[in-house]
Amino acid sequence: MKLRYSSVVSVLPAHDIFWKNPCRFSFNLFCSNLSRRRRIQLSSIVSQKRQVSAKVGMGAEQYLPPWFSVAPMMDWTDHHYRTLARLISKHAWLYTEMLAAETIVYQQHNLHLSMRVFDRSVWKTTRVEKFVYNAQDRFLAFSPEQHPIILQIGGNNLDNIAKATELANPYGYDEINFNCGCPSPKVAGHGCFGVRLMLDPKFVAKAMSVIAANTDAPVSVKCRIGVDDHDSYNELCDFIYKVSSLSPTRHFIIHSRKALLNGISPAENRTIPPLKYEYFYGLLRDFPDLRFTINGGINTVDEVNAARKAGAHGVMIGRTAYYNPWQLLGRVDTAIYGAPSSGITRRQVLEKYQIYGDSVLWRDGCKPNVRDVVKPLLHLFHSEPGNGLWKRKADAAFQHCMSIKSFFEETLVAIPDSVLDSPIAGPLPPGREDLFANVESLLPPPYDQSEQELLCA
Ligand SMILES: Cc1cc2nc3c(=O)[nH]c(=O)nc-3n(C[C@H](O)[C@H](O)[C@H](O)COP(=O)(O)O)c2cc1C
Repeated sequence: MKLRYSSVVSVLPAHDIFWKNPCRFSFNLFCSNLSRRRRIQLSSIVSQKRQVSAKVGMGAEQYLPPWFSVAPMMDWTDHHYRTLARLISKHAWLYTEMLAAETIVYQQHNLHLSMRVFDRSVWKTTRVEKFVYNAQDRFLAFSPEQHPIILQIGGNNLDNIAKATELANPYGYDEINFNCGCPSPKVAGHGCFGVRLMLDPKFVAKAMSVIAANTDAPVSVKCRIGVDDHDSYNELCDFIYKVSSLSPTRHFIIHSRKALLNGISPAENRTIPPLKYEYFYGLLRDFPDLRFTINGGINTVDEVNAARKAGAHGVMIGRTAYYNPWQLLGRVDTAIYGAPSSGITRRQVLEKYQIYGDSVLWRDGCKPNVRDVVKPLLHLFHSEPGNGLWKRKADAAFQHCMSIKSFFEETLVAIPDSVLDSPIAGPLPPGREDLFANVESLLPPPYDQSEQELLCA
């Protein structure tokens, strides 16, 4: 199979201001155990940041709103996957995998875009032009086409969280997200961060304040609807209330099932606890000043549109965006953002991906290898004729191919031209348009904030 080359063009959409909510930032509880000097320092940092935000606008303002985002997924949403995702959808918001704050701090000498070589005052106005993607910086670097992109950080040590955010700031991420949803025993058990932090909202508020004080980007929290027996709607509201009133956090991504820390695997924790979308829509009703993105079990653009019609500010999809990138991401720009179809075909996507892949291959000695770079492509032909044969050929080719070009030459013969050359077309895969139809009747009783206000006063 021969690939025809065309240039990689990245067109960023027009400016659209959507993060309009002013910060409602109360220091009361957060600062109660800090020294007076530290309190004054912090309050001055936050007020400077507000002025900066008001003046230059947040990075996120140059893109269409995050109506649709691809979830952070460890080992999956790496630079290679995001490159593929961006070739298919121009408007989807892309999350990185979670990076532990400790990793960023301990690896700071391997970060090749350092503060020293980066003039932040220049960067604020010419972010993309100044940025050079360094593939050897495998922790924080990303190519400019990947905007809008959100960095997810995990951690439980405020100093490391602060330092990691400061180190990440010059890279120009469009938002910094804090992980309060990961149930993996490595993270929530021994590491004691991730979803376990939902039990300590005051700490999360401190972490979010520290993150906000060290970045120019907006900040957000990704969490579950509860943990173990702490799964009532009121407890979820207490978490949201405390974090939002004690820190500048205005955006929450809600994975709408609780986490069980009883030893089930992370994968089981994404299927066994039931989804409770009514909690998500309860939050929309009870916290009208905040922004909420719904996540969990949503699989098609129809379902995304149904969630948004029911009021969600944004919708995040994880596994389906990975397992069926063409059918899902290929429809995001047209069916969700209303943009004209780019008409791109999978052959064109692969041509561009080949240029990228061969340019990053072996950058780090023996890594990334052909398998690493090809991994996100393995689901590009989901349910298409030739898919099975292509995967068998890929397995064989991994043994000896030394370039993405030779890998494609050897394997893509399995895929019919009609598949490679068709743009996304035809009827949408059936979605459950009525997924949120009954949610109104299931809403929990409204949250009573007065008790929390007394506690936080
Ligand atoms: C392989 C894998 C890795 C994940 N890693 C992360 C992570 O690093 N951070 C996070 O917040 N969520 C992580 N998640 C959870 C997803 O972001 C998402 O919340 C979850 O898959 C539910 O969405 P979905 O039903 O659309 O897949 C991961 C999920 C998967 C499948």
